[in-house]
Amino acid sequence: MRILVLGGPNLNRLGTREPQTYGTQTLDDIIELLRERAGSGIEIDARQSNFEGQLVEWLHEAADARTPVILNPAALTHYSIALRDAVSIVTETGTPLIEVHLSNPHAREVFRHTSVISPVATGVVAGLGAGSYLAALEGIRAMSEATRPSPETLH
Ligand code: DQA
Repeated sequence: MRILVLGGPNLNRLGTREPQTYGTQTLDDIIELLRERAGSGIEIDARQSNFEGQLVEWLHEAADARTPVILNPAALTHYSIALRDAVSIVTETGTPLIEVHLSNPHAREVFRHTSVISPVATGVVAGLGAGSYLAALEGIRAMSEATRPSPETLH
């Protein structure tokens, strides 16, 4: 199985960007942890963009290939209807997409309390730092095991 891990604007600055909120791990550090946890059976395809349209196109690709997604939409979480519609294109195919946040946006400024993504995401994990990504991975793994045919039904 392959999982697409997408990051939105400014996440390439993790490590030095507001460390009191986001910690000191870089995005590469988080992806490395995710790869370790995923093990050899799951390929982690990690991408980051500061451009909304690029994220939309990657989500179309995920929808067409039915690739599960871990998405940190970053600031786009709070206002991008284009990204929301692209997330909906993924999840309406039955492909899981988990929205993740390093921080807990609900404990921060009021403008971060709204996510236009959450209503069309399969699930949301926030506030656990890199652990949000690891929890999303475990969620996707559990969902794929639940839907995989058991050996008895294969013959
Ligand atoms: C974030 C939370 C967003 O509000 C913020 O704009 C980000 C990062 C998080 O991971 O905590 O860029 O998505």
